[in-house]
Amino acid sequence: MSAPLRLGIAGLGTVGIGVVKIIQQHADLLSARSGRPVTITAVSARDRMKNRDADLSGYTWVEDPVELATRDDIDIYVELIGGDNGVARESVELALKSGKDVVTANKALLAMHGQELAALAEENGQVIRFEAAVAGGIPVIKAMTESLAGNHITRVMGVMNGTCNYILTRMESAGLPYEAVFEEARQLGYLEADPTLDVGGIDASHKLAILSSIAFGTQVSFDGVEIEGIERVSIDDIRRAADMGYRIKLLGVAQMTGRGLEQRMSPCLVPADSPLGQLQGGTNMVVVEGDSVGQIVLRGAGAGEGPTASAVMSDIVELARGVRMPVFGQPAGRLKKPVHARTAVPAAYYLRLALLDKPGALAKVATVLGDAGISIHRMRQYDHQDGPAPVLIVTHKTTPDAIDHAIAELPKTGVIAEDPVELRIEEV
Ligand code: HSE
Repeated sequence: MSAPLRLGIAGLGTVGIGVVKIIQQHADLLSARSGRPVTITAVSARDRMKNRDADLSGYTWVEDPVELATRDDIDIYVELIGGDNGVARESVELALKSGKDVVTANKALLAMHGQELAALAEENGQVIRFEAAVAGGIPVIKAMTESLAGNHITRVMGVMNGTCNYILTRMESAGLPYEAVFEEARQLGYLEADPTLDVGGIDASHKLAILSSIAFGTQVSFDGVEIEGIERVSIDDIRRAADMGYRIKLLGVAQMTGRGLEQRMSPCLVPADSPLGQLQGGTNMVVVEGDSVGQIVLRGAGAGEGPTASAVMSDIVELARGVRMPVFGQPAGRLKKPVHARTAVPAAYYLRLALLDKPGALAKVATVLGDAGISIHRMRQYDHQDGPAPVLIVTHKTTPDAIDHAIAELPKTGVIAEDPVELRIEEV
């Protein structure tokens, strides 16, 4: 048996403790699968006195993660601190410069500084693995870098924030408004310390930017993601969309077009009976389309102690086996700077309007849509007593520019009682 692989783990929150437990509980299994024992040398976290659900007595306690990252008695620095700057970034950089490989779950760090870190790792002959950074326990990084390596990837998309999916599915099942379910999610401890990371679509966009880089051989670019969170999704839209056969998901989509790389994260309608439409609660789903493989769907827990620690362990075992690959699947110098393209791929759209109930109102709306080159596929006007008439329109495929133009023109008709809601319908 070869020499043990020695870990230094920084960050003993949910994921860090999950990793410690797996290493303690599955020592023989890990050793058999890796061809060498996997051991923890030292650990580091903010508060040494905190009561943790694991026995840490066998490990050296190091106050400063930066010191841990550079110790001679570790082979891999496992960064589970989080955050795109500060001590996480500093310690990862120092670990690479000190000849350590890095395993991390830090999506923000990779989304914001992935290209520099990939180059730094290569300069120093080290690797960074990050299976846990995207979609928790779902092995999507390995699927894309290894299992799908023979494919030209045409599109990657998915639901990659469990908290948002919980909120949207709970709104539908309980018939509750966004604010009430947001509060529930807070009390259940589902929200990040800064909830905007979840509901503002930022966490999911970090993950999408990482997948785009692997899929399209481009430098990871978070700035190129068009982001809209779920804050404006109303219970009305959830009900009306369901009535038309759709569910609303915070969906990330990345595709390379003739004009450049489109990356968007936004609330979209998907068919209720599609795999994405069926996704309930905090679960994640990633859909990858390749020219040879066709479409594959990966589904599983996107967060939590066990699933995320499982993903971290997959990287550790990979390194213990001696498998080494470039950070984003190809050498950093080969990754192209992406040309960012605003979404232009045509799609059908859902429009919800509140119309003044007077003769000719619908005709005026139809004229605006027609003048913008938008054709109506389906339409419903709902029963109402007083006040504006709720009208739903599902268009044929059209461009985002045409929709934007129509939305700007609609108020000029004088029959629009509230701001129209428009949501893209994604073909999945
Ligand atoms: N807050 C994330 C989610 C998990 O709800 O999916 C960490 O990325």
